[in-house]
Amino acid sequence: MTPTYLLSDGTSLPAIGFGTYPLKGSEGVEAITSALGSGYELLDTAVNYENETEVGEALRRFLAASGRDRDAVRVCSKIPGRHHAYDDAIASTKDSLHRLGLDHLDLHLIHWPNPSRDLYVEAWQALIELQRQGLVRSIGVSNFTEAHLRRIIAETGVAPVVNQIELHPLFPQAAMRAVHDELGIRTEAWSPMGKRQGQYDAAPVVAAAERLGVTPGQVILRWHVELGSVPIPKSATPSRQVENLSVFDFSLTPEEVEAITALGRPDGRLFDGDPDTHEEL
Ligand SMILES: NC(=O)c1ccc[n+]([C@@H]2O[C@H](COP(=O)([O-])OP(=O)(O)OC[C@H]3O[C@@H](n4cnc5c(N)ncnc54)[C@H](OP(=O)(O)O)[C@@H]3O)[C@@H](O)[C@H]2O)c1
Repeated sequence: MTPTYLLSDGTSLPAIGFGTYPLKGSEGVEAITSALGSGYELLDTAVNYENETEVGEALRRFLAASGRDRDAVRVCSKIPGRHHAYDDAIASTKDSLHRLGLDHLDLHLIHWPNPSRDLYVEAWQALIELQRQGLVRSIGVSNFTEAHLRRIIAETGVAPVVNQIELHPLFPQAAMRAVHDELGIRTEAWSPMGKRQGQYDAAPVVAAAERLGVTPGQVILRWHVELGSVPIPKSATPSRQVENLSVFDFSLTPEEVEAITALGRPDGRLFDGDPDTHEEL
């Protein structure tokens, strides 16, 4: 069992999840089924990944083979930018449930705020209604800045339980993590390994891996755990899926955490748009 965090709405979230982008088709179903068999209890998908059908199929295969019940796995999806208008957000979520073959999502996020369209408050109001109807258990956001977070809270009185943001050793997001702490929001980390910029050879990562007898990838994921962020690493490699989950029986020293955080660079971000104007449809 993965340790969990208690969220502000009283539900819980596993301390690590499995990222499913860009796993698609029969190979995608295999990879996601394999991840579930390794023990992941949280799957991260989105309308824009075009793989909700595969995620649902993998979940059904896993539940049939293991005899576990639906509540053994949390499924998180995301409303795309083109579906922010209230009625579109409701319809989008119902379509996601249909593709997944589920009667509820455990967590549903607004994928990007798309501030220049200025409809993310409507999307948030739709999520509040979907939660009231029981179609979604917990509601959150992704790629929101401090201003976007404060606005949806001010206009609805409801805070998101998570904000899923880019976070990895080259982009440690200290300021946003502090905002989340103040607002009672759990940080979820996308591209937690740093994707193509993975810091597997960086000196503080290698030093901690050698001290602990673990892999550099495990050190990076344990760094997330020490920060209190929920990483959702993607791997199509079964041995890495197992390795990435095995980060709860060792810990980093505060000095090791600090040294890995110090790898952060102003140009370390993978996303190269402007968060205040970026349009992600
Ligand atoms: N909300 C958003 O806007 C947003 C944006 C981007 C991503 N996401 C979510 O975040 C998830 C993860 O992000 P990501 O896929 O971009 O990046 P990532 O998880 O940081 O990196 C994935 C890459 O790292 C490799 N890898 C995984 N574990 C490894 C290990 N232990 N050692 C060495 N290499 C390892 C994988 O290779 P193999 O597969 O070959 O093993 C893959 O190439 C996505 O799948 C998606 O669910 C969300």
